[in-house]
Amino acid sequence: MTKIIIDTDPGIDDAMAIFYAASAPDIELLGLTAIFGNVTVETATRNALRLLEAAGLDVPVAKGADAPLAMPPFKPSAHVHGEEGFGDIPAETPKGQAVAESAAEFLVRMARDHKGELVLCPIGPLTNVALAMQLDPEFASNVDRIVLMGGSYKEGGNITPYAEANIYHDPHAAEVVFASGAKIEMVGLDVTHRILCSKEDFATMAAAAPHLGGMLQDMSHFYLKFYESFGMTEGCSLHDPAAVIACTHPHLFTPENVPLTVVTEGEHIGETVLADDSRADTQVLMAVQSAEVKALFLDRICALS
Ligand code: BDR
Ligand code: CA
Repeated sequence: MTKIIIDTDPGIDDAMAIFYAASAPDIELLGLTAIFGNVTVETATRNALRLLEAAGLDVPVAKGADAPLAMPPFKPSAHVHGEEGFGDIPAETPKGQAVAESAAEFLVRMARDHKGELVLCPIGPLTNVALAMQLDPEFASNVDRIVLMGGSYKEGGNITPYAEANIYHDPHAAEVVFASGAKIEMVGLDVTHRILCSKEDFATMAAAAPHLGGMLQDMSHFYLKFYESFGMTEGCSLHDPAAVIACTHPHLFTPENVPLTVVTEGEHIGETVLADDSRADTQVLMAVQSAEVKALFLDRICALS
């Protein structure tokens, strides 16, 4: 079993990733940390609790940062994920509450308690992770590795021509993380643009797993419409689920070792580019066995209730 914490801004593909983690017999989910991004951090925390309750998982949620390290707060991406984060489905108040610790404090404690074993899977802006690194200089070496959804090496951006959304929403935090010396795997647009989930795939999940697969299908209408608005009619990218799958199935991806840095100003802000200092390499996932990743995702979601 791989011990995982997901740092998340739920978000429709975040919901897909969290339900995948709930379905995976090879994942021990130790908690979720919430971050602004697709929604505000308040909504992200509420949505994280709601997803766990829907999936019947009793694991802690810690609330994180509400703004980037060095830039003013961003407006949530309501045009991509809907006002409440889950497309058209109405907001719901969860029964549970976030723990008293901040996300950064929770991450630091969990990395110490599970030293060398914890795989951290950030699927939103990297602010909480950078704050954990600033709080504890040993955090980067206490985690086993960081498998993050974000960035792009050769693929170009999705929020600007150069930047991927998660990195763009806090480039300074991303730079702290890439420069930290932690073992990092970047699951960026180079691979996530190759794995698509269609309307028919959502129908398959809803038919097999009416509760959770059905919830994903309800969310998907809004998300698929957003993709269609720029000509992507074959489906939406499995961005965040791909990162969770990479935590346990690295053989389905091909990495390239490159030292990465993040552009923190100007037109290219948020772009992930080759670093010219002596920092540790990031493993950038550059190719993916798309059919296998998608089949794994669908099979496991279909096995849920
Ligand atoms: C990333 O940005 C968010 O909109 C998604 O949830 C995903 O984490 C894709 O660029
Ligand atoms: Ca996300």
